[in-house]
Amino acid sequence: MSIIILGIESSCDDTSAAVVKDGVLLSNVMAGQKVHEEYGGVVPELASRAHQQNIVPVVDAAIRRAGIDKKDIDAIAFTRGPGLLGSLFVGVFFSKGFALARDVRLVEVNHLHGHMLAHFIREPGSDRPLPRFPFLNLTVSGGHTQIVLVKDYFDFQVLGETIDDAAGEAFDKAAKIMGLGYPGGPVIDHLAQQGNPGAFHFPMPRIRGLNFSFSGLKTSFLYLVRDELQKDPRFIEKNKADLCASFQKVIIDFLLAKLRRAVRETGIKEVAIGGGVAANSELRRRLQELADKGGWIAHIPERRFTTDNAAMIATIGYYKYLKGEFAGQDVVPLARWKV
Ligand code: KG4
Ligand code: ZN
Repeated sequence: MSIIILGIESSCDDTSAAVVKDGVLLSNVMAGQKVHEEYGGVVPELASRAHQQNIVPVVDAAIRRAGIDKKDIDAIAFTRGPGLLGSLFVGVFFSKGFALARDVRLVEVNHLHGHMLAHFIREPGSDRPLPRFPFLNLTVSGGHTQIVLVKDYFDFQVLGETIDDAAGEAFDKAAKIMGLGYPGGPVIDHLAQQGNPGAFHFPMPRIRGLNFSFSGLKTSFLYLVRDELQKDPRFIEKNKADLCASFQKVIIDFLLAKLRRAVRETGIKEVAIGGGVAANSELRRRLQELADKGGWIAHIPERRFTTDNAAMIATIGYYKYLKGEFAGQDVVPLARWKV
């Protein structure tokens, strides 16, 4: 008999629902939130409200596109955390209500676990090779930056993580300083393509082992722009592409230096990336280049599975369902939750 999982993701500013049948993705519907653009970052209260408006139509569309009936669903998997509490609340309580009304099981999923295992999202007819355990996963998003040794679907070890900002936050903050709107990553990625990565120098953060730090980088970007603006008020306008390319370069240099070190220390040459920043064209290109040179196997997910999506939540929900790991009706969202 088939197992059908409905997945719900609402940890930040994307409302998403997906349907997975026997581990294969049937639908993945997303609703982004434009309301945050003018604020240069996600406004939690507005995000929560937008989730409330989006959740029912998004779930409805995911069920219709999957070509299934509500009564075919065996369990509802949802992001319990980490994330914005007001956003998580919407997905968690919708899921609890749905489970109660339809008498189906509830499966809680850690959002970071989702990004780490997004490579296991299987689409009908796809012959993309899946990572083999153990592999290294660089998770780079708006809220997290970490290198994880993934030994199995449910057995992993964090080898290094950021001690302050996340990589995505560095992109977003630099974009905000330049007045480029939110989210900053995609805009910087785009503008950097016409810029010179050697035009400005930003010192590579110095931090021990496999940990990361991005707050100093953000400050050096801010100071450079502030000082140059005093000399020329049109500095940003004139140098936008070069600023983007140079700032993006140091972030990618830093991420890949740590990944190289992790490969060296563990001897594992199967590497994967996930999280919103993994959508970055230059990071994707350079990781593949590094893999080709070093004889690594690189797993680079499709862009729509790097940023927040319910397909990854439903996929993990499926594996947890097989293990018989269910949540009760007393489950509550968690703003912080380590994998
Ligand atoms: O995974 P995600 O959708 O949400 C979190 O879990 O945080 O990641 C969002 C982050 C944002 O900081 C956004 O600027 C960044 O991913 N991002 C990118 C790109 N697309 C999204 N960063 C660099 N280049 C991109 N193309
Ligand atoms: Zn995410």
